[in-house]
Amino acid sequence: MLKELKDKRVAVLAGGQSGEREVSFRSGQGVMEALQAAGIDAVMLDPEPDLAGQIARAGADVAFNALHGGAGENGTVQGVLEMAGIPYSGCGVLASALTMDKPLSLAVLTQSGFPVPEHVVVSARSSAADLEAGVARIGLPLVTKPACEGSSLGVEICHDEERALAAARELIHRYGRILVEEFIGGTEITVGVLGWHERTRALPVLEIVPHKEFYDYEAKYTRGATDLICPARISEQAAAEARRLALEAHLLTGCHGISRCDMHLDEQGQVWIHEINSMPGLTETSDVPHEAIADGMTYQDLALEILASAFHR
Ligand SMILES: Nc1ncnc2c1ncn2[C@@H]1O[C@H](COP(=O)(O)OP(=O)(O)O)[C@@H](O)[C@H]1O
Ligand SMILES: [Mg+2]
Repeated sequence: MLKELKDKRVAVLAGGQSGEREVSFRSGQGVMEALQAAGIDAVMLDPEPDLAGQIARAGADVAFNALHGGAGENGTVQGVLEMAGIPYSGCGVLASALTMDKPLSLAVLTQSGFPVPEHVVVSARSSAADLEAGVARIGLPLVTKPACEGSSLGVEICHDEERALAAARELIHRYGRILVEEFIGGTEITVGVLGWHERTRALPVLEIVPHKEFYDYEAKYTRGATDLICPARISEQAAAEARRLALEAHLLTGCHGISRCDMHLDEQGQVWIHEINSMPGLTETSDVPHEAIADGMTYQDLALEILASAFHR
């Protein structure tokens, strides 16, 4: 695998204009160091409007996508690279666009019988009565979240109706379209999926134990703020189910190379999916690197395998 990558110059795409710009730089930095340590010629690029030209001017012949959120995760950057004929790592246009949109991906998952929390979609077009009915239907506590964000930005767990309505209104004002979702208690778990074609496989289950109420932005990116335990301290049966669901969700949504499925295992032993990520974090504190290392890989193996996915679409 390394041999086919060695004569390549890699553009590591990092930064971007989304709310996850800083996280992306951290993912990109980790990837840069791993590729360079493997003897691969790599340059980091913060995408400009003329991304294809920028990559050509850098003399790169393949892109490693380390962008999170926004254009880098929603299929836009993938479309530009497709048009320019530049091979790139990870998910393609459709899988990126679909999984970036939580309401749409939940609809697709529901349609195929996957267990997802009860939810309603509300937007600037919804009336006050619609919002109130939605909140009443979901019940308390509930989770409000933007339709198309990441890194827990804008996610809130609401314990009373007044706060739920206010949080939903604030989010609608900021993001336009949001989800009001049933709160699932129990154990938070996540499963990365790697590879392509027949080598597509689920990594071991990671258990997430934030020291605060939930896995918010600070809990995700502050060293020591969350315990990441892999393999998760759950039954073999639940772990097998979580890995099966993550792999099936990856395949259903057409993901390629890498994805990560965020889930909860409730007190009754039922696994619930709350989202699929097409561009999971690759910082040193991120979930997928943790799982890969628990599976016997190194961070460098992980970066090389994701990069190689560019040549096996
Ligand atoms: N339905 C839910 N029940 C309980 N906690 C949730 C639920 N949805 C989200 N969360 C919490 O919020 C975090 C972020 O939500 P998620 O849907 O994964 O969005 P993001 O794309 O921001 O990661 C999760 O990791 C979890 O801690
Ligand atoms: Mg998540």
